[in-house]
Amino acid sequence: MTMETVKSVETETQLNLDPIIESKIKTLLNQMTLAEKIGQLSQHNGEGFEAVAAINRRVKQGQLGSVLNQADPEIINEWQRIAVEESRLGIPLLIARDVIHGFKTVMPIPLGQAASWNPDIVERGAQIAAHESSSVGINWTFAPMVDISRDPRWGRIAESLGEDPYLCGELGAAMVRGFQGDNLSNPNSIAACVKHFCGYGASEAGRDYSSTNIPEYELHNVYLRPFKRCIDEGAASLMASFSDIDGIPATANDYLLTEILREHWKFDGLTVSDWNAVQELAVHGIAENDKDCATLAANAGIDMEMSGTSYEDYLSGLVKENLLSINQIDAMVSNVLRLKFRLGLFDNPFVDDKNAQLFGSDAALKVAQEAAQQSLVLLKNQNNLLPLSSTKKGKIAVMGPLADAPYEQLGTWIFDGDASISQSILTAMKLFQTDNLKIDFNCGLEYSRSKDTKHFNDAIKLAKNSDVAVLCLGEESILSGEAHSRACIDLPGAQIDLIKQIKATGTPIVGVILAGRSLTLTNIVDDLDAIIYAWHPGTMGGPAIAETLFGQKSPSGKLPVTLPKMVGQLPLYYSQKNTGRPPTDESVVLIDEIQQFAEQTSLGMTAFHLDAGYKPLFPFGFGLTYGEFDYSNLQLSAAQLSENSSITAKVTLANSGSHTATETVQLYIRDKVGTITRPIKELVGFQRVTLAPGEKTSVSFEITTNNLKFYTRRRQWEAEPGEFQIWIGGSSDATLSDTFSLLA
Ligand code: GLC
Repeated sequence: MTMETVKSVETETQLNLDPIIESKIKTLLNQMTLAEKIGQLSQHNGEGFEAVAAINRRVKQGQLGSVLNQADPEIINEWQRIAVEESRLGIPLLIARDVIHGFKTVMPIPLGQAASWNPDIVERGAQIAAHESSSVGINWTFAPMVDISRDPRWGRIAESLGEDPYLCGELGAAMVRGFQGDNLSNPNSIAACVKHFCGYGASEAGRDYSSTNIPEYELHNVYLRPFKRCIDEGAASLMASFSDIDGIPATANDYLLTEILREHWKFDGLTVSDWNAVQELAVHGIAENDKDCATLAANAGIDMEMSGTSYEDYLSGLVKENLLSINQIDAMVSNVLRLKFRLGLFDNPFVDDKNAQLFGSDAALKVAQEAAQQSLVLLKNQNNLLPLSSTKKGKIAVMGPLADAPYEQLGTWIFDGDASISQSILTAMKLFQTDNLKIDFNCGLEYSRSKDTKHFNDAIKLAKNSDVAVLCLGEESILSGEAHSRACIDLPGAQIDLIKQIKATGTPIVGVILAGRSLTLTNIVDDLDAIIYAWHPGTMGGPAIAETLFGQKSPSGKLPVTLPKMVGQLPLYYSQKNTGRPPTDESVVLIDEIQQFAEQTSLGMTAFHLDAGYKPLFPFGFGLTYGEFDYSNLQLSAAQLSENSSITAKVTLANSGSHTATETVQLYIRDKVGTITRPIKELVGFQRVTLAPGEKTSVSFEITTNNLKFYTRRRQWEAEPGEFQIWIGGSSDATLSDTFSLLA
């Protein structure tokens, strides 16, 4: 990444500050001592008895701007009372918590929510999270996480919205709307925090916290885009990433935090470091000591330090030594105060702790079930094994380590998730049991990593005596999330062995996969007659899966990440560059096809692996339904596009199946020639369409130059004239295509 000044990388937006709030900030700043100003720039951990006492003292002295990790409304109300009534200036606190995919009612993990391709349900899920968490006094969450994730070895792919900048941006913006509502001062609203700025998902080898090396064009054309989208949606705050980018840790990266974020994007919100990331600058080896850490982070553009003490220990000295100006301090403090004013905390920072009984309401559970159901991706349905009949006489064996795992199905980052209201797959399936339909259970393995096969004989016997086996497999929640990266992403434990043994009984198998990442399924995909990928589906995962297995709802999810054949293919994503030697089916000779003593150049001199080819097991955007969707008759309203015109791309979609189903119609483009190499396909639009059996409709997209803009060789965010190809279809493998040109 170059440090030289770049011109505006995207359309520059102007600050739209509220003059009344700005005047109140100015008045307060004039009253504050330097110590009180610096106090606003610290956030401390609020969990644990000692912490509560220590925080009481700091708050009274006006030496704290925010607390995280406390969810007891009585403790929070007391802190706010001390802040407002006992500190000299009465400045209330920001109370932060990782409400990543729900508070007590847990939605699918964000990667699962992304599989819905539905901004509306994602927004409603965030609204529920805001409603429940704000009722205990939380007013700031550290979400949405919009790190583009293309390496499922990385545990944090679970909390991402997938591999594509456009989909990730649209769904991240939906979360911002859901958390913040129409007005941040609404008591049910909480401030969003878009994170981790920037490029954390490119951690080398998928190993969490490791280095990222992102060249400038990739940074702008891939990793920055969803952040810009969320900031344009009004995200109130932003968190810097732990990782270093091309040698400069994000926490000390003025190119990102000042030049791009403030000067070009005109961001007027609050920036916060990640946990202890300021002091970790010394561990990175870019600072000698904590004083240097504080100097680097404050000068780069970090307003608030999370959980570390370098700001409170050194900022006043830095001002006295002219290593930091009082104007810089005032700007940092203004960003903190602005958020507190916008949240309405100066008017009323308290919550009615009786309200805190709103958790797990019918309304919340309904949204959680809808979100989980729309997150389910049907990958395979051989001989239309699904949906299962709930009326015909029969015996269903519900099996596997995740069949009755109400805690595990919640997934990672559920500090407050309530497992007691989480409904497992088995519980939900049992509700369909009748005199005619018997549903029995055997776990096969007691947990996902288990290698203890003591239940195998009973499991095999049950499978033999059943008409179908629903095998619930995958990962415990601990196997994904922060610091939980895996080098092998097969099913863990003895699950593969269990599948083989059940397969040998001849009973058809429905595989239901619950995981925090895309797993490599190559070694079992042929043993399963049907496969539903359920991610970690949250509180209502059981009912969502059961209603789908029995056909009350059709699966409609589409993959937000590529499913590779094997881990050695990574990173693998649909929007690859063409390279000078793109692979084709004809140009590829696979390892088992190689003749002995083959001549060195006879295997096809193109970009592929001898033992894997070049395609994934399942591509980005893929997902089957219980319908049969056919695309035809793609038409463009014009063959040429200019700066101020648009082209309508229209296609006919028909459901020739026997079930009502929802299809996510996807629009991809390819910029055939650019001043830098361009991806072979890029998602630029999608629409969810529901059709009854036999129904057909026309689906259209408006294409303008805005869909074609990218960060060019001129370091400008612009569209370049030339030829473009478009595809419309049900996955990134769409074939229905046409071309148009953009005029100079
Ligand atoms: C963690 C995570 C960040 C989270 C923060 C507070 O280490 O990196 O995503 O919001 O600390 O819990």
